Amino acid sequence: MKSVILSRVVLASAAFQCALAATADQWRGRSIYQIITDRYALPQGAATNACDPAARTWCGGTWNTITANLDYIQDAGFTAIWISPVNQNYEGPTSAYGDAYHGYWIADVSQLNSHFGTSDDLKALSAEVHRRNMFLMVDIVANNVMSTSTDPGYSSYFFKDASLYHPYCPIDWSNTTSEQVCWLGDTVVPLPDLDTKNPTVISQYGDWIANLVQEYSIDGLRIDAAKHVNIEFWPPFCAKAGVFCMGEVFDSSVPNVAMYQGPQGLDSVLNYPIYNALVSAFTIPGPLNVSNLVQVFQDSQAQYKDVTLLGNFLENQDVPRWHNISVDPQSMYNAMTFTFMSDGIPIVYYGQEQSFSGNADPLNREPLWPSDYAKTNSYNLMTTLNTFRNFLVNTTSWATQQAQILTTSTYGIAIMKGPVISIMTNIGSPPQNGTHIAVTSPYPQNTAMVNILTCAQWVVGSEGTLVTQYTLGGVPTILIPLQLLNGSGLCNTELGVIAGNGGKAGALNASASTSQFPLYPSVALLMTTLGALLTYL
Ligand SMILES: *[C@@H]1O[C@H](CO)[C@@H](O)[C@H](O)[C@H]1NC(C)=O
Ligand SMILES: *[C@@H]1O[C@H](CO)[C@@H](O)[C@H](O)[C@H]1NC(C)=O
Ligand SMILES: *[C@@H]1O[C@H](CO)[C@@H](O)[C@H](O)[C@H]1NC(C)=O
Ligand SMILES: *[C@@H]1O[C@H](CO)[C@@H](O)[C@H](O)[C@H]1NC(C)=O
Ligand SMILES: *[C@@H]1O[C@H](CO)[C@@H](O)[C@H](O)[C@H]1NC(C)=O
Ligand SMILES: *[C@@H]1O[C@H](CO)[C@@H](O)[C@H](O)[C@H]1NC(C)=O
Ligand SMILES: *[C@@H]1O[C@H](CO)[C@@H](O)[C@H](O)[C@H]1NC(C)=O
Repeated sequence: MKSVILSRVVLASAAFQCALAATADQWRGRSIYQIITDRYALPQGAATNACDPAARTWCGGTWNTITANLDYIQDAGFTAIWISPVNQNYEGPTSAYGDAYHGYWIADVSQLNSHFGTSDDLKALSAEVHRRNMFLMVDIVANNVMSTSTDPGYSSYFFKDASLYHPYCPIDWSNTTSEQVCWLGDTVVPLPDLDTKNPTVISQYGDWIANLVQEYSIDGLRIDAAKHVNIEFWPPFCAKAGVFCMGEVFDSSVPNVAMYQGPQGLDSVLNYPIYNALVSAFTIPGPLNVSNLVQVFQDSQAQYKDVTLLGNFLENQDVPRWHNISVDPQSMYNAMTFTFMSDGIPIVYYGQEQSFSGNADPLNREPLWPSDYAKTNSYNLMTTLNTFRNFLVNTTSWATQQAQILTTSTYGIAIMKGPVISIMTNIGSPPQNGTHIAVTSPYPQNTAMVNILTCAQWVVGSEGTLVTQYTLGGVPTILIPLQLLNGSGLCNTELGVIAGNGGKAGALNASASTSQFPLYPSVALLMTTLGALLTYL
């Protein structure tokens, strides 16, 4: 009897160790698919036509339905998932802003949210994610709870004593102290703010997070509203968690966000400054401000502790979908190329691959199932980007190398990270004869290069030049020396064959151009349509 118990304990702790405590360094090379549990997948047989994001109520997704639908994520090459908060939320009557389907309206962090399943269900999800060699990131909320009054009774909350909270005050957004001690939300749905300098709060939160991470073998945390907590709260909290911490610092200023990364703060932060700069550089219509992107890129490398750990995104549950602010598909393809090929950890918010176009909260939390999980052009582009990035991460020191800017113009930017040159443009889908971006690369003349998005071969010209043409529209271009692509599974380089070049080995052409091979059939169709339209106008 005794030995049985002992071996169980040993087994449990062995399983526990291999899945546990992923460090910042282990996360650096990952790519993350972000999920709102309620909206990702339905149980088999459920009615699929009854989820209106505007209604702000539960639609039926659970931890089990994520577990059952991980192929869609893994097949696209993602190596981690981030799931919305798992802890118990407000359970009172529907509030003026709907129900707590998103998970951010915490009441008792010590309990799980029964809408999404049981403790065993969450453990099963964690085990399945790990079986696939993926990581599990869980969203957590420590800054605040939720209430429907500015004078709540706290008896049903984890922290029951009003003295553990800051007294109600509305936030003055020009005052940092106010951002940290006053309450998020408003007077209709206020978010009571924990006193995170109180020793009882610090100690109980520390025990809670250590237990949550261990119990569910969590590999990393996404921390909600991190900038609304006094920064010195985070290092001991994340030490108790023992895993990678990525915080939300919702701010477009590099210095304001950068101060949260490092030993005095968190391992990583969500890259809001680059997100805003990508919106400004690539959305159509938009200011098309590439110089702003260049500025933010340079400020980032100068001011963050480690840009290669930042979380890069184009969408999340708090900002409008990319396709709400920019309908041209090439706009997203180019911006997405930046999030995968520049410094940092790429994050894709569920539905981005389906070109969802909802506006801000709650319309950006669409159910995924009406898409039928189709393998769209965006899905295929993500798959190629992930396959390529995973290959580079696995076989080289790419993840720790910093990108550098090779060229900028009013309509584009070229960066180089490790051996990879990525050329992005904001001209959009309509073909433009004469528009080009010329890059001076460090490669010797005649080096054979491959554009991994089309498999077309390029040859480096004199003095290292590489030139894109946009006669088929503003497609992104990602170039790597042919030799270095071998083993990636892309473009059949193992066989010495390049699919996009008629399958002929070594048939290189000196006029490097994106114009020879359309990136995606339907984009080519769209471009033709737009071309025809322009002709008739
Ligand atoms: C900033 O906010 C804090 C907290 O509300 C307040 O005590 C302080 O007086 C404010 N400072 C200024 C300059 O308004
Ligand atoms: C572009 O952004 C820079 C800031 O980096 C700003 O100075 C400039 O005015 C912006 N240009 C346009 C056209 O918005
Ligand atoms: C943006 O979202 C709003 C609200 O959902 C919608 O009315 C509008 O059509 C969307 N725009 C696009 C381009 O999809
Ligand atoms: C990267 O390495 C991991 C672990 O060895 C392996 O599971 C994965 O398939 C590799 N991925 C690629 C794209 O080579
Ligand atoms: C671009 O040039 C090609 C051939 O050089 C021509 O067929 C096409 O119509 C031109 N497109 C535009 C938009 O001028
Ligand atoms: C790729 O690598 C394999 C095995 O090392 C080799 O046989 C093949 O010739 C290489 N292909 C190219 C195009 O270099
Ligand atoms: C490259 O291809 C173009 C068109 O396919 C052709 O006109 C040109 O002669 C080729 N150049 C070389 C050096 O083979």
